[in-house]
Formats: sequence, structure tokens, C-alpha cells
Amino acid sequence: MKDLFDKIYKDKGPLGKWASQAEGYFVFPKLEGEIANRMKFRGKDVITWSINDYLGLANHPEVRKVDAEAAKLHGSAYPMGARMMSGHTDLHEQLEKELAAFVNKEAAYLLNFGYQGMVSTVDALVSKNDIIVYDVDSHACIIDGVRLHMGKRFTFKHNDMESLEKNLDRASKMAEQTGGGILVISEGVFGMRGEQGKLKEIVALKKKYNFRLFVDDAHGFGTLGKTGAGAGEEQGIQDEIDVYFATFAKSMASTGAFIAADQEIIDYLKYNLRSQMFAKSLQMQLVVGALKRLEMLRTMPELKENLWTIVNALQSGLKEHGFDIGNTSSCVTPVYLKGSIPEAMALVKDLRENHGIFCSIVVYPVIPKGMILLRLIPTASHTLEDVEETLKAFDAIRDRLENGTYKRLSAAVSAAMGD
Ligand SMILES: Cc1ncc(COP(=O)(O)O)c(C=O)c1O
Repeated sequence: MKDLFDKIYKDKGPLGKWASQAEGYFVFPKLEGEIANRMKFRGKDVITWSINDYLGLANHPEVRKVDAEAAKLHGSAYPMGARMMSGHTDLHEQLEKELAAFVNKEAAYLLNFGYQGMVSTVDALVSKNDIIVYDVDSHACIIDGVRLHMGKRFTFKHNDMESLEKNLDRASKMAEQTGGGILVISEGVFGMRGEQGKLKEIVALKKKYNFRLFVDDAHGFGTLGKTGAGAGEEQGIQDEIDVYFATFAKSMASTGAFIAADQEIIDYLKYNLRSQMFAKSLQMQLVVGALKRLEMLRTMPELKENLWTIVNALQSGLKEHGFDIGNTSSCVTPVYLKGSIPEAMALVKDLRENHGIFCSIVVYPVIPKGMILLRLIPTASHTLEDVEETLKAFDAIRDRLENGTYKRLSAAVSAAMGD
């Protein structure tokens, strides 16, 4: 019989196999200094395009003050226990009321982490007779929620309404046999490539098919829509989203998340959401911090305006410089280049060491072989100078990619990897 660990000793997994070349640099890098548009990486100043702090709240003096006061007053333990048992407070309820009002829903419920909360919400919304139909490019938290489902599930091609309809057709026939219902899941904004989910088209299909829509709006909350209520507001169909989800990890620059829906649905989830029933309540310092951030989202529209000044400058600048930024319709800014993984590594090293630009790099298997995706997340704390510097650096690295410099530089890396 094999030892359980044999497979681990032999195969570190699709990402883990790169660890010896990549760790500390391409993965698990350490950015140092206060969270801002410019931080330090391995002792050097870099423009940071990967910190998700859309509205620039992470290091805002008012936010820092409230966070510090809340930590002093409540410590990091309070309240102890799960919400249901001993971890419930007035401030948790107040935050839920304010979040619900902000996203135009009757009620909301707090989640300790977005990822776990999404998994658990998918799990709680369906029983084995129900059918899930979800976008094939969904975030891991949706996929892992679907994995818990004991019944049927179908994927539809990314943002492809014909494929969705085909699968709704199949799901409807199946639901007639099982006696269950249908849950459709999409994202408000797809976080890798930046396209908004086609929520308007999806809800139009409600006229023809009977389903409920669950939207993960991690990247849309605070960045899209007139009031910042997200992709549903931007597309004018917020009322048609049956269950709305957003995390505090991006626009709110914190930790935690929430779901919002009709009161009766939230009441049900309160009693059936295993990630909250069997886990300690969200810490009070995070609750107090979230109340402050939400107040700023409501009362300081300039935060979103500043964000979009940078987004527009960056995205139009990249396009003018001839870069392929795909079909983004959000702040997420992908730049698609062609090259091998070793070339991508040489390119990113050049970008960081010689141009002082720090952004995320995505390669196969997340995107097709031979493609390199540089992913930039603009924030309200970036400046137009940051954009200009970045555009110049991108011109330079594209030249070197095209004239084979990175191929030569990466030959040694390639040989070492057997690529
Ligand atoms: C689309 C999406 N959903 C869910 C999550 C998970 O949220 P959290 O970081 O709060 O666990 C993320 C990442 O933060 C995300 O990008």
C-alpha cells in the first residue's frame, strides 16, 4: 500500500512545481511599506498595480484612525463565539442594515471571508433536486461551492448567452423530473479579464426560464454603478439579482464579506449558512472598520471618480500604445502578450528590477499556453505619473519581448525547467 504522502513527494501540483524558481519573486513576493501606489519590493521602489485597494482606503488616515481606535476598544477577540451562539451584536446588525440599503436589497448577512462565504452560500441555496448553471470562468469560490452540490450542475461558456440558454433548457427539463429549481451563478466582474458578467442579458432570460440568479460582485462593489452598488446597478438590473455577494477585500480594503437578498432569503441563510453557524463571528474591529468604510463609499463620490480617472488614463493609454487589453469593462486591466512561461518570467523580472513596475503575472494553465497576461489593478491612490511611467515601461518590455531578448535571457531558465 502506498503512503498517503507519496504523491505529494512526487508531484507538487500545477503551481507548486514552479516553487523553486518562483517562490519569493513571482509567487509569495513580499511587498513592503504602507499600502500605496508605491511600495518596496526587495529593497527597491515599485509602482504597485496588484493591491486591490480600488478606492485607496487601505491607508486613508480616517480609516486608519477608526481601525486603530476599534482595535484599542475591542481587541481582536470580541465578540467570542458564532453569531448564533454568543457572537451577535448591535453593530453587526447595523452594518448589515447599512450594507443592504447600499446595495438596494431588503436584508444582508455578514460573512467572515468572501471565499468561504460564497462556498457556503451556494451550498445552502441548493438541495439535491436543484440544478446549478454557472459560468465556466467562475472564481474558485463558486466552483468549490458547486463541488459541494449533490445534484446536477452545468457550466455555460463564458458570458455566452446562447450557451446559457442551451443549458437552461437542459436544466429546466431535468428540474421537471427532479422536482427541483435552478440556480444561475455569474460574476459581476470577472476578476482576471475584467469583463462584466452579462447580467442584463441573463435576467432577460428570466422571462423564458424559471431560475434564481446569484452574483459574485467582488470587483464591482464600490467601483461600478452610479452609487457604487456594483455591476447590477451599472447594468440597471440590481432588483433582478436574487442573491448579491461582495467581499470587503477590495473596495473596502479590509477582511470580511456579505450577502444581500430579500429578508426571507437572508433569514433562511442565517440559519443554514454553515460557514457562519460553525465559525466565530466577524471581529468587532472589522465590523467598526467596515461601517466607516461604507460611510466613506456613501459620502465621498470623489473616491470612485479618482479611481476612474486612473482607470480611463491607464486603459486608453495602453490601447493608444497598441496593447491588447481584451474586453475589459471594469477597473481590472489585463494586458495580453505572447510568450512562453520562461519568457514571461524574464519579462516580469525586467519590469520589476529595471522599470520599478510591480503587477501580477498570469500564465498557463490559468490562460491558454503561449499567452502572458499582465494584470493591473488601478486604484484611487495611483497618479497620472504612475500611469505614464507604466506605459513607457510597457513599451520597453514589449520591444524586448518582440526582439527575442527574453527568449535569450530565459534560455537558461528554460533548460533548468526542461520546458
Ligand atoms: C470574484 C471573487 N470572489 C470571491 C473572492 C474571495 O473573497 P475573500 O478574499 O474575501 O475571501 C475573491 C477574492 O478576493 C474574488 O475575486
